[in-house]
Amino acid sequence: MTHTRGWTGRVFIGASLDGFIARPDGDIGWLTDPAPVPHRATATNSAEALSWDSFFPMIDHLVMGRGTYEKVLTFGAWPYAHKRVIVLSTTLRADDDRITVVRDLDEAITALDRFGARQVYVDGGKVIQTFLRADLIDEISIGWAPVLLGHGLPLFGFLDHDVQLRLLSSTTSGNGMVNATYAVHR
Ligand SMILES: NC(=O)c1ccc[n+]([C@@H]2O[C@H](COP(=O)([O-])OP(=O)(O)OC[C@H]3O[C@@H](n4cnc5c(N)ncnc54)[C@H](OP(=O)(O)O)[C@@H]3O)[C@@H](O)[C@H]2O)c1
Repeated sequence: MTHTRGWTGRVFIGASLDGFIARPDGDIGWLTDPAPVPHRATATNSAEALSWDSFFPMIDHLVMGRGTYEKVLTFGAWPYAHKRVIVLSTTLRADDDRITVVRDLDEAITALDRFGARQVYVDGGKVIQTFLRADLIDEISIGWAPVLLGHGLPLFGFLDHDVQLRLLSSTTSGNGMVNATYAVHR
């Protein structure tokens, strides 16, 4: 079933090769400060996968979970100036005029429609899973980090149907990351 909406749902995320986006305590140091392993593959740049520099400017709205929002607050500087940020949470009582808090998926969709969203960056493991299950994701860019964590917060979860993906592009970088951009195939 295709949801009628005026916006494109996009994921842009880093994950361990075994599918985790953070350690159980939320740590992402393995991604932001990777081990200095001498990788053999060199960089490739044919049909380039989206990078942060090509991805972020095309986004006008973000939807993230409370977990991701609370992590972003630890970064110090707010990285989303000039973007509207919607945070999904049943518990957050934030007094933060940079965000709009919504309590469930329906409220998130209503807010995106009301704000006239066009390109939506969907972030946070649980939120990505919610949007995928509701068929609200159109494109997924993953930077696969060359590490197995064994446990942590999963990128993906239960689905009641297959989600077919079409590989659009992939690149490797000297630090061992394999970046791949997929379209959801309907
Ligand atoms: N590797 C990367 O590139 C990357 C990217 C983003 C985030 N992260 C990491 O991932 C961690 C956070 O991920 P996460 O899996 O915990 O997920 P998350 O989606 O960021 O946050 C989960 C929380 O969001 C709320 N939520 C999610 N879906 C909801 C729904 N349908 N309705 C109402 N509320 C909903 C709930 O908050 P309440 O409990 O308040 O209801 C839930 O506990 C952080 O440690 C962050 O650093 C990593």
